[in-house]
Amino acid sequence: MNEMKCSYCNNEAIEEAYGKAYCKKHFNNYFLGRVRSIIDKFKIKGKIAVALSGGKDSSACFYALHNLKLELVPFYINLGIKNYSDICQEKAEELCQQLGYELNVIYLADYGIELEKYKKPCSTCGTAKRYLMNKFAYENGCKYIATGHNLSDIVTFAMNNFISGNILNFRGNKPYLQGKEEYKLVAKIKPLFWLKDKECMLYTWINELAYAEEECPYSINAPTIKIKEWLNRLEAEKEGTLMNIARSLWKLEEKMEKDVKLNLCSNCGYVSYGKICKFCKIRKK
Ligand code: AMP
Ligand code: FES
Ligand code: ZN
Ligand code: ZN
Repeated sequence: MNEMKCSYCNNEAIEEAYGKAYCKKHFNNYFLGRVRSIIDKFKIKGKIAVALSGGKDSSACFYALHNLKLELVPFYINLGIKNYSDICQEKAEELCQQLGYELNVIYLADYGIELEKYKKPCSTCGTAKRYLMNKFAYENGCKYIATGHNLSDIVTFAMNNFISGNILNFRGNKPYLQGKEEYKLVAKIKPLFWLKDKECMLYTWINELAYAEEECPYSINAPTIKIKEWLNRLEAEKEGTLMNIARSLWKLEEKMEKDVKLNLCSNCGYVSYGKICKFCKIRKK
């Protein structure tokens, strides 16, 4: 049997992408190059709060940024989800140990919120995560928040909204969202914007990074799983489809961004769309 050779050296290839084959070393270069393209395009420099979920994507994101020698402050939000949150925290801690960082941990319970009490915890959880990420980054003097959203997830999320008729929920579909100091809003970056699910998985594996395989017990929701499978089939038939969709989303986002009006929450003083922010509304309930 013919083994596939790397397009850049004579070693055995482990992955093919966009017409090139890669050995382990050159796959690492390829991956880092994709991440670097975002860091360079938006001239990212200064302290970055890295949101670790314990999962493969944020592990890959953290490791790539670490290799680019950026100034990183990793943090984890413990959401208090049974048989899940503590396991993920352990993995995030293990990863920080591997790379020589101290993990910062934020507990949702400290804000009086118990996700268990909600019928549909995911939207409350999403609001709380976004809020706490921003607050952590702001209080620690970070200029950016980096999350592990990858290309497959971004396109799946947008398609899900599109298919359900919620085109206006299409927010944040670009690799860099500007911060606004006057609204205590920290800029967000998605370093894995151009990298697919399986590429992030491979990067995590070959670099032996700690990550949790557990899925959130609340997230086992059929629509996005089906949509992702469908998108993966499209991508397999025509490589580059996901990237092209992401490019379109980015353009759309730029058009839509102009109509957003921000306020400061009259309760906590952080950024809000209305008078009181969603997080404070949840806490009041
Ligand atoms: P998700 O919303 O679960 O798809 O996660 C998207 C990204 O948000 C992850 O890649 C992380 O960067 C970040 N994130 C998710 N959950 C947490 C968490 N519990 N603590 C810190 N960051 C998180
Ligand atoms: Fe938030 Fe599952 S991680 S509900
Ligand atoms: Zn090679
Ligand atoms: Zn508030």
